[in-house]
Amino acid sequence: MDNKLGFELGSLVLSQIDSPDRPARTTFSLLDREWDLLPEVFPPYTDPGPGLFASWVPYEKGSRFLEMGCGAGIAAVLAAQRGCERVVATDINPAAVANTRRNAARHGVAGQVTALAGDLFDALDAAEVLDIVFWNTPFIEAPEDRPYGPQIERAVFDPGYALQRRFFCDVGPHLAADGRIYLGTSEAMGNPAKMLRAAADAGFGGRRYRSESVELPAVDLGDSPEVKAHTNERGTVDMDFTMYEFQRR
Ligand SMILES: C[S@@+](CC[C@H](N)C(=O)[O-])C[C@H]1O[C@@H](n2cnc3c(N)ncnc32)[C@H](O)[C@@H]1O
Repeated sequence: MDNKLGFELGSLVLSQIDSPDRPARTTFSLLDREWDLLPEVFPPYTDPGPGLFASWVPYEKGSRFLEMGCGAGIAAVLAAQRGCERVVATDINPAAVANTRRNAARHGVAGQVTALAGDLFDALDAAEVLDIVFWNTPFIEAPEDRPYGPQIERAVFDPGYALQRRFFCDVGPHLAADGRIYLGTSEAMGNPAKMLRAAADAGFGGRRYRSESVELPAVDLGDSPEVKAHTNERGTVDMDFTMYEFQRR
């Protein structure tokens, strides 16, 4: 595990999601729309990543689109609304699949979004081929031997980045010859170097596609030594949300 700051911030986000002080919300606003949120599903409003990533994906009219790890299903709904011909969404968390179906119905695209529960590509038909695959990855690298606790931890942690490695090993048969993959991560909190290595080992080349820097007030990030070490003279910690694009080499 190379990124201690990322691990601390991931742990903090999880404790905030789990906190009894956190108001229970059943809806939220993002990208000028209202969305449903079910219990146990990653709340996409807690950090800028989900909104940024979902708005950066180059949805192409007529294309076949997969949102991996769909959570509340924001990108799947946008893909259907932007005219993707086939939209599939999948998540290992059954509550996320139910949430995506609910948001597809709320936004009038229930008939265009197929949401399936399963581990990575397991729920997809063997013949399912996509032009665009997007995943806002659980980009916080956890120690290799750290077991998952509650389902929500799968939205944040990837022990040893084994999940990212499995993703690149398994995506091949489901990606069109000129298909593209878009993965959301963070230079400051994740481990893009390890992600690029996993991609390269499976025959994919990657490049930074888009990135946005944000300054987060250190007081909101707990008082751990890692956060203190990364706090600048303005009392903020520099963060980024970064999307990589991958294609076959
Ligand atoms: C960072 S969250 C993103 C959720 C949503 N796309 C968003 O942007 O708000 C990562 C998602 O990946 C899902 N996930 C984790 N491991 C998975 C796996 N092995 N197969 C499918 N989905 C997985 C989690 O359940 C979670 O919903």
